[in-house]
This record gives sequence, structure tokens and C-alpha cells, in this order.
Amino acid sequence: MIRSVIVGTGSALPRRAVSNAELAERVDTSDEWIVERTGISNRHIAAPDETTSSLATDAARKAIEAAGFEAASIDLIVLATATPDQTFPATATIVQNNLGCRGGIAFDVAAVCSGFLYAVGVADSMLRSGMAKRALVIGSETFSRILDWEDRTTCVLFGDGAGAIVLEAQEQGAEAPRGVLATRLHADGAHNQLLFVDGGPSTTGTVGKLRMKGREVFRHAVVNLAEVLGEVLEETGHSAADIDWLVPHQANARILDATARKLNLPAEKVIMTVGQHANTSAASVPLALDVAVRDGRIRQGDLVVLEAMGGGFTWGASVVRM
Ligand code: UT7
Repeated sequence: MIRSVIVGTGSALPRRAVSNAELAERVDTSDEWIVERTGISNRHIAAPDETTSSLATDAARKAIEAAGFEAASIDLIVLATATPDQTFPATATIVQNNLGCRGGIAFDVAAVCSGFLYAVGVADSMLRSGMAKRALVIGSETFSRILDWEDRTTCVLFGDGAGAIVLEAQEQGAEAPRGVLATRLHADGAHNQLLFVDGGPSTTGTVGKLRMKGREVFRHAVVNLAEVLGEVLEETGHSAADIDWLVPHQANARILDATARKLNLPAEKVIMTVGQHANTSAASVPLALDVAVRDGRIRQGDLVVLEAMGGGFTWGASVVRM
């Protein structure tokens, strides 16, 4: 059976790290409040010369290098972002050009914080159907550009960054096959006013700023994530006890703790980077994955579960054998 196997990971962060103390000089907040309510201590903020495409290109180069491929052999690029360089063309095509790839498929996916899961689902389907052989799946964001820096309820929560994986279509046997084993995705547009940007090309003609009713998003996140994790585990015939590593969307340490508790998963099996990166939206899952691959925690053969929930609402989960 053809499976989409993760053969390389990479990530990139803007040069500048910003502490909670620095934010407390701009808005009425404190390091204590942010750490206690979210687990966040730091985030990286992009300089004017650091863009969604430049961070994505850096992360992609590292993933391609880890895979040991020539960039030109990539025939599919799916880039998840809610903060594209421009309204069009797709940021994926800018990355494609930066990498020196030609003629393959390249497009963006917009599912906000779940964007990377959506991108994995789409790329996996295309690889298994034979439309491409080697895919670059990227999550890249510069949320600092759409934050209202006067609004303490949102500006302390987000950061910029990018993560990437290379997926290769490989023939795998039936015994413990490597690759993406299942992905389940959902959306419920009835909640799209709980987390949104108040602008856009077709409405205001402006880029707009992020608005969120945090407490309500939190409540939905815990319920939806538990449900989709149950679905994807059932589909692959695994139980939570089989999971070697959970790589969750890094929105809030309390959501991660609640999700792990619902699965009865020890905290040591949860990759947690929210403290240093904050919420990087579509970049957060591949960024956390790359951190744990590079520090040697996640190894070939491990059963890894990826999950995310975000604006839309959208949510999803994947089970992957590394
Ligand atoms: O990535 C997409 C998914 N997004 C998420 O998953 C985010 C989910 N939501 C959350 O993570 C949490 O709801 C937040 C971190 C956003 C907020 O935490 P909370 O425990 O739900 O706090 P709250 O919104 O209920 O606010 C509690 C208090 C309020 O004051 P009052 O009304 O009780 O007097 C806020 O005004 O904390 C106040 N507050 C702050 N205080 C200091 C809100 N933001 C801040 C702040 N510093 N930055």
C-alpha cells in the first residue's frame, strides 16, 4: 500500500524573541498572568524583512536537507497560512520559486490554526492517489502583523514562525507501516465569529486585526479535540496507550494538559513548545514536531498523533508512524 512517509522536518523562527516583561511595558498585563493562564513566556516576532514566505522557505530548506533530497525533486507544495505575503499569488508559489522548483503543484490552504492538519490531509490524499511523489507541507505565519497591539486579551498569545515536513509516497507493507495512517478533519462555520479577523479584500479592503472570545474558544477546543482524537485512533485501531508522542497545536498549556488528561496520557508524552513560541497558528504543530525530532525524542517507528483546533471553527487530527 502507498503511504505518505515523513522523511524530513524543519523549522524557522524570526531572529527577535519577545518576553512577557517586554509586552507588559506596552499593555496592562504581567508575566505572572500570561504564564499562569497560558504557559507562555516568550514568542518570536518577525522583523520587516522576515515574512511568511521567507520563514517558510527557511523551514522548507531544512526539511529538504534532512530528507537528503534535491529541492527540484519536490512536485507538490501545500502551505498552510492565514497570513500570506499577499492576497495572491499563493505564498506556496513564492516558496516554490525561492527553492528553485518548477512545474509541480503549489497552493495555500486556509484553515487558520488547523491549517497544517488540513494541509497534511490534502497532501496525503494527493500522494496516495498518484498526483505527486514528494510533497513539502508547510505551516508558516506572521500573526504579529494582524494583532491589535493595544488588545491585551489577544496580543500576548501569538507569535511568528514556520515548520515544514517532506512527505514521500512509499510502498509500505501491512506490518507496522510507516507514514500517515489516518487524518480526520472537521469544520463548523456556526462559530466563525468567536475567532476571526475584522477585515479582508472582499469586505473592508483592509487586512484587519485578529479578534477572539478566548474563553469560549477554549471550551470548544477541549471538547472538539478529545472527539477527533477518539475518531482518528479508532480508525487506525489504536488506543491512547499506543501513542508514543502527542504533538498538539500550541495554543495554551492548559488546553494541552486538559487534552492529555482526557486521553490519560502522561505529560512527558506531550510535546510542549508553547512556552517559547506562543501560538504560531498553522506553524505550531510542524514547529513542535521538528523540535522533538531534532532533540532526539521522536524517532523512526514512533506512533505520533498530531492535532489542532482553530478559527472557523476548524479542527483535526492525524496518526502518523514516523
Ligand atoms: O489557536 C486557536 C485556538 N485559540 C485558543 O485555543 C485560545 C483559547 N483560549 C485561551 O487560551 C484562554 O481563554 C485565554 C488565555 C485567551 C484567556 O484565559 P482565561 O482564563 O479564559 O481568561 P478570561 O478571558 O476569562 O479572562 C480572565 C481575566 C479577565 O478579567 P476580569 O473580567 O475577570 O476582570 C480579563 O480581562 O483576565 C483578564 N485578562 C488579562 N489580564 C492580564 C485578559 N487578558 C489579560 C492579560 N493580562 N493579557
